[in-house]
Amino acid sequence: MSENNTPRILVLNGPNLNLLGTREPEIYGHETLNDVEELCRAAAGTAGYEVEFLQSNHEGVLIDAIHAARGAVAGIVFNPGAFTHTSVALADAISGVQLPVIEVHISNVHRREAFRHHSYISPVAASIIVGAGVNGYVLGVQQLIHLAGK
Ligand code: DQA
Repeated sequence: MSENNTPRILVLNGPNLNLLGTREPEIYGHETLNDVEELCRAAAGTAGYEVEFLQSNHEGVLIDAIHAARGAVAGIVFNPGAFTHTSVALADAISGVQLPVIEVHISNVHRREAFRHHSYISPVAASIIVGAGVNGYVLGVQQLIHLAGK
């Protein structure tokens, strides 16, 4: 809970997602991370939630953000970027805080290279949204709020 008691969710983005809009637009589209932030704030605001929005290229910063989220937010919408496919540490952090996590991938990772087919995050995620473009973040916010209301 924040000081004003408005419920909050964390939208967390991993490495290279700061480049959204210019990074491989044929795969990730033309929307920027600022656009994603606005979409998330609008979707959350409709349901009376506030958004904390963070992107980092550093695994440890993401782990610290997951730890800090415990007791502060209702859950996390998380695009771990390439750490999805490599990071036991991020999976352990999610297990450790016991918050619902919605895993989001802009692209359909299952149509791409084989190394993108495995996720260390999926077994500890409440829900997984892939291949919906940046609308996946909106769906993630809505799903998290749906779960929080249960
Ligand atoms: C991604 C998919 C990952 O495989 C990739 O490393 C990313 C972005 C996505 O949103 O589609 O950085 O998570």
